[in-house]
Amino acid sequence: MTDDRPRGEAYVQALMEQDRRPVPASLRAAAFDDPGHVAVPPTRYTSRAYHDLEVERLWKRVWQMACREEDIPAVGDHVVYDIADLSLIVVRSGPGRIQAFHNSCLHRGTQLRAASGHADEFRCPFHGFTWHLDGTLARIPCAWDFPEIEPSTFCLPEARVGTWGGFVFVNVDPGSPSLEEYLEILPAHFASWPLEDRWKSAHAVRIVPCNWKVAMEAFIESYHTVAVHPQLLRTTGDTLTEYDIWPGSSHVSRMITPVGMPSEHVERAVTDEEILGLMFLTKDGPQPTEGASARSVIADRIRSGIEAEAGREVPMSDTEAVDAVEYFVFPNFMPWPSYQTPLVYRFRPNGNDPDSAVVDVMLLQPVPASGRPPAMRPRLLEPGETWADVPELGFLGRILNQDSSTFGRIQRGLKASVRPALTLAHYQEARIRHFHTTLQSYVGS
Ligand code: FES
Ligand SMILES: [Fe+2]
Repeated sequence: MTDDRPRGEAYVQALMEQDRRPVPASLRAAAFDDPGHVAVPPTRYTSRAYHDLEVERLWKRVWQMACREEDIPAVGDHVVYDIADLSLIVVRSGPGRIQAFHNSCLHRGTQLRAASGHADEFRCPFHGFTWHLDGTLARIPCAWDFPEIEPSTFCLPEARVGTWGGFVFVNVDPGSPSLEEYLEILPAHFASWPLEDRWKSAHAVRIVPCNWKVAMEAFIESYHTVAVHPQLLRTTGDTLTEYDIWPGSSHVSRMITPVGMPSEHVERAVTDEEILGLMFLTKDGPQPTEGASARSVIADRIRSGIEAEAGREVPMSDTEAVDAVEYFVFPNFMPWPSYQTPLVYRFRPNGNDPDSAVVDVMLLQPVPASGRPPAMRPRLLEPGETWADVPELGFLGRILNQDSSTFGRIQRGLKASVRPALTLAHYQEARIRHFHTTLQSYVGS
């Protein structure tokens, strides 16, 4: 280990060297390719003009996670994926086949499907033009009155579809690179975490009062822990987080926050008993055993809990069990391979409003030996409901509420700013600079 490594990387990699089990090579592949200075003006989060540019140059060009394959298990099951004014019907159109169609009738434009669900065909509610699940024309009422329509070519326009890790991705740009190319190092990194072998045990959706990038950026740094999540400081190495930016990778970044030890912000000694009590919120939880660190006791507890739930062995190192490992896929998707926090986040603009966003939070658990349970359906939180109203999110609900509680103030403050640009930390906010470097390559500055 050399002294010029970032301190978070040096700390986390040293922890992995002490791991009692083999750590996947991808977790040992640390890198900090400094994106350098980038000026991020507050208007990037508040202006309708910048949102409109994002629609044209970003959302119409990037691969986006639309749903899980398990959300549409049967032929005819479909998800309506909306982003700004774009709307796609993502449908299982046949066994082993998923397609995405622009959600607009070829007659006079009516939205074909208003919501996710099941259909045997797509029949427009206005005059009854109908298409098969594969997008080919089924029938037109009074077809004699449309002599110019050639039925064999009057198909629903398609967007591109790709799958990875049990997720369905869509892209409305026919000239974009393939999904495989777009995902860069992600598939190789997830080789030991096949997310297609997990099932969606929670899915909550919340409208939040800020730009989608404000919400998203709150989840790619651990720097805010001291102010937003003070209760986590006794069990989280927030300031010792490893942030990874790989050379040549513009779409993917990562952070690894060590868990099971006190933060550098805590000035007094924190005992192992205290850490274990906090992490399991019970006095009669696991006790530290002679010679075993709190981390290893926690890892054993998490491992045995997950294996009991799954009814099978789920191999994982201590770091995969305990630490918070989060990957980011540009522009708005975050899969976490770690087992205590098996999260997935997605962030979208709410329609064309630059001041609000749609946040999806999911949990992906290993599929039990007894078979794949049905995926949890997305639950849109009502106004007044919070993440803590979703029991499946467990202890994460309170933490997510703390994050969400700052969003409105960030958005309001950005509008009041008289500064030309935000101030960003060199290391702990490097993923935000990396994101904006890539964003600018799509949208311009
Ligand atoms: S608009 Fe769809 S059938 Fe007329
Ligand atoms: Fe947070």
